[in-house]
Amino acid sequence: MISFTLNNKQQNYTGDPEKSLLDFLRFDKHITSVKDGCSAQAACGACTVEINGKAMLSCVAKMSKLNDAEVNTPEGFPPYVLDIIAKAMVNKGAVQCGFCTPGFISRTKVLLQNTPNPSIEEIQKAIKPHICRCTGYKKIEEAIQYAGEVIQRNEKLVITSISGKVGISHPKYEAYSTAIGARDFVDDIFIDGMLFGALKFRDHPRAKIISIDTSKASNYPGVQRVFTAKDILGVQKVGLIIPDWPVMVGIGQITSYIGDVLAGVVADTNKIAREAIELIDVKYDVLEPITDVFKAMNADRIHEERPNNFETTSIKIGKVDKALMDSKYYIQGNYETQRVEHGFMEKESSIAVPEKDGIHLYSQSQGIYEDQRQVAMILGLDEKNVRVTLVPNGGGFGGKEDLSIQGQTALFSFLLQKPVKLTLSREESIRLHPKRHPVFMNISLGADKNGKLTGLKLRAVGDTGAYASVGAKVMERVAGHASGGYFIPEIDIEAKTVYTNNIPCGAMRGFGANQVAFALESCIDEICKKGGFDPWQFRWDNALVDGLTTSTGQKLYGVGIRACLEALKDDYTNSQFSGLACGIKNSGVGNGMVDESKVIIEIISEDKVVLKHGWTEMGQGVHNMALQTLCQ
Ligand code: FES
Repeated sequence: MISFTLNNKQQNYTGDPEKSLLDFLRFDKHITSVKDGCSAQAACGACTVEINGKAMLSCVAKMSKLNDAEVNTPEGFPPYVLDIIAKAMVNKGAVQCGFCTPGFISRTKVLLQNTPNPSIEEIQKAIKPHICRCTGYKKIEEAIQYAGEVIQRNEKLVITSISGKVGISHPKYEAYSTAIGARDFVDDIFIDGMLFGALKFRDHPRAKIISIDTSKASNYPGVQRVFTAKDILGVQKVGLIIPDWPVMVGIGQITSYIGDVLAGVVADTNKIAREAIELIDVKYDVLEPITDVFKAMNADRIHEERPNNFETTSIKIGKVDKALMDSKYYIQGNYETQRVEHGFMEKESSIAVPEKDGIHLYSQSQGIYEDQRQVAMILGLDEKNVRVTLVPNGGGFGGKEDLSIQGQTALFSFLLQKPVKLTLSREESIRLHPKRHPVFMNISLGADKNGKLTGLKLRAVGDTGAYASVGAKVMERVAGHASGGYFIPEIDIEAKTVYTNNIPCGAMRGFGANQVAFALESCIDEICKKGGFDPWQFRWDNALVDGLTTSTGQKLYGVGIRACLEALKDDYTNSQFSGLACGIKNSGVGNGMVDESKVIIEIISEDKVVLKHGWTEMGQGVHNMALQTLCQ
């Protein structure tokens, strides 16, 4: 027996001594202020707790080491100390999605009891084991220092609340409860009688499935049922734009990438589900994967039902070849960007609960209406029988736009008629969800003797990986933002979106505008060097102003590029080392679509108004935007 205190209460533990403290806290005790961000890789700090007065990572603390230990989570901290640290975090704007915050709070509590007035350097050293993907560290450091000062003065803190109107900082909606770990993320929700799911991923990016033997897994004690593609009730393939992404790949079919799902296990516990998934035996006919984006354009089709492996977006304005030939200065270059992982701190998690004639899904996705539509297709249900509750997520950055595991969770739960939770490990999360596109760009740019841009030619190829996701739209944005913040009269652009057997690529902050900005701005620096132009003046001279057009020929109004350049001119000119780049980004859907949104506003009483909306809160503060717009 292992005896220790947890939040000042005696515990006598007789279970698996190899179990991690994190699993004990979350699964046995349902103490969910302690988060699992990295699946026991000791990499993120979100699971930090206090053990014997030290800040420790609970994901790597074994139960066997806890005899006589004193363990505290935020729930067991002195209420005054917890309150001050959390309020300091809120008031300093250190809580965005808030997934990382309870871990930082535990670290801060221990730091301040040993070093009541830490310097910024001491704080930086203390929080090194922690990752915050949203906020950055400056505000967190300020909050920790501020909390120390307030505690030293034995003062109270109130959350600064003002008019709520637009233009005045407002404390983030639910920031306090999120900071102390009292606001549930999906994986923090436990429902009575809930079962746990795990997924069998394929072993090869491209292989024909010969057989899937689930017998050992099915007979494993504690397993409720094993599912394969033949259990899908409705359509097998879904997708945001093109329905090409299978919920599970079946026997006789070919896998497309390393994140394809072949089967799922639902069991009494998470541990049993994960043990059983290892017992599924798959026989493959392994095929050579197509991983080179240029070869893929002429290779076997990744998807038989598609006409080929690519889509093309073209824009032509004027006669660019002649414009470039007549240009006094001409630059051509090849630029490429890499595949980028979003790195949100909260891994994918989904819970489904059967309801009369349908399913209730708890989702952390970036679009619950899409979840509803696609899950209804998978289950063969009417959309009205799929109810989706958005649980504000722990970061998305575009990586939670596609359906990830909501479809499998809903299917398993609906077939079993029991609540099911499915949460990915960090490795599974990284292998499954789409990334930022690697884009290969050949770009030509011309300028006249006065440094005015004359023409732009771009040939861009984006590796969209195994499934369409929103890849073609990203590459359309590459094309649409190719002339960046400048007016270029002659344009010839071709952007190709190419299927490969690599991890799919889709939405990520900037949505294609970033990649092409890198190529264009690098070329502008080159042309400035060649022509002897001042880089600031060159950009100012060519900057878009009201009435001029982008690379799509769209006339702009309210352009702020010259104002931006003016604002940083002195810093740029007077710094010993400095560089300069401009960029633009469309907001809203674009492509001529009208952006429209609706909310429900209920006036409850003289002093209470309720606003309901369906937008995704993922740390960016959309609830605040709604609230402040209403107050305004
Ligand atoms: Fe730190 Fe989101 S606020 S990870």
